[in-house]
Amino acid sequence: MFFQKLKPEEVFTPRAAEVNKDMYVSRPTLERALENALRGNLHIVIHGESGTGKSWLYKQKFNDAGVSFIVANLANASRLGSIAAELKNLIDREGKAVKVSYEEEKSAGLDAVVATAEVSHTGQYEFGKMEPFEACLAHLRTKAGKNPAVLVFDNLEAAFTEPLLKELADLIILCDDERYAKYKTKILIVGVPAGVKEYYYKTPHHATVANRLYELPEVARLSQPECVSLVIRGFVEKLKYVIEDEASLSTHTAWITDRIPQMVHEYCLEAAFIGEENRSLLDAQLPLADQAWISKSMYHAYAVAEEHMNERDTKAGRRNQTLYALSLAEGEQFKAPEIEILIRREFPASTENTTLNVAQTLSQLASTASTERPIIRRSPKGDAYTFADPRYRMVLRSMLRKTSDERVEKMPISQDS
Ligand SMILES: Nc1ncnc2c1ncn2[C@@H]1O[C@H](COP(=O)(O)OP(=O)(O)OP(=O)(O)O)[C@@H](O)[C@H]1O
Ligand SMILES: [Mg+2]
Repeated sequence: MFFQKLKPEEVFTPRAAEVNKDMYVSRPTLERALENALRGNLHIVIHGESGTGKSWLYKQKFNDAGVSFIVANLANASRLGSIAAELKNLIDREGKAVKVSYEEEKSAGLDAVVATAEVSHTGQYEFGKMEPFEACLAHLRTKAGKNPAVLVFDNLEAAFTEPLLKELADLIILCDDERYAKYKTKILIVGVPAGVKEYYYKTPHHATVANRLYELPEVARLSQPECVSLVIRGFVEKLKYVIEDEASLSTHTAWITDRIPQMVHEYCLEAAFIGEENRSLLDAQLPLADQAWISKSMYHAYAVAEEHMNERDTKAGRRNQTLYALSLAEGEQFKAPEIEILIRREFPASTENTTLNVAQTLSQLASTASTERPIIRRSPKGDAYTFADPRYRMVLRSMLRKTSDERVEKMPISQDS
């Protein structure tokens, strides 16, 4: 067989629900934490911003470790009005899968398989009579045999309402009841919000739920080496591109995507399309990749940044320098003094012997009085700021350029470029 070339979209898969094993970058600390949590007595919570790899993390780990799991989507629970409705959905779907394979096996005349299929078929028949939660646990236990079994509730952010959180709390408590405990199934809750335990601690009657939960450390951005490994594996090992400068490609990607896995895939996919014809990527092509990425995936964030730059008052120059300095700040939170240091470092001539009122500029950028879409937000304590959306940092990093006379320009983008 001739070696078949992979397509960019087979390598870089920004929103794939299914894990592409070949492209999965391992995250040892998180994986170990999950592994240990599986062996403990508590139910598990995984949290972190969108696109940071929560779903890939548990799917990869569970597949590796032979853990049987099914995923209930809490967005669906919210849509259907209850978690029970989503569980019923799930069991119906899983039930059909069991039935189909049973009938296929029967019609194929595979006697040996039929024997086992019959068991699960009979099992399925009984599941139908159970209430949905118990049916899920029973189904999982049948599926898992002697292996660990986990019922996953993913997309908690979609169900962060009192009735659904209460329903979830009840299910967790039920797991201790002998009728449910016998299925030896763990619950894993996955979602964006931090502080699920905190929530239950503070809610009357639910402190006992908090005591049954173990929160994994936050799933956050990739480390620099993990990100580099993802970029190089994709372009060099899988796509077999010739890269002019691997270090500059991976450093640039890590910088503008803030090392959020989904963004890394998104950006690399655009870059891979640009280099597809010659199966190579030159440094000079990276601005084209930036443009394509912004116009396809980041246009909303671009428009917000643009709105803040466009105002035609005399202070626009300083404000744009401030935005540039904000893009360079590495921490989650930033305060006026550190931004001032960055502004003075990046724009020495235009700031020499000048007072900068950075606190005021930041407060304007965060104000909802002049715009509906402030780019930064004051922290609850009031003395620091964060980006109002993580994409704003990425878009500033990719769109802003410093000129030799210390002005800041934006890269022009049109949405359909
Ligand atoms: N360990 C990893 N190695 C390589 N790519 C990854 C990894 N984890 C995630 N990705 C990439 O990031 C994308 C998003 O990951 P995932 O769906 O797990 O994020 P999430 O945290 O569950 O996001 P959401 O909160 O929006 O559901 C994946 O489709 C994949 O392209
Ligand atoms: Mg997810």
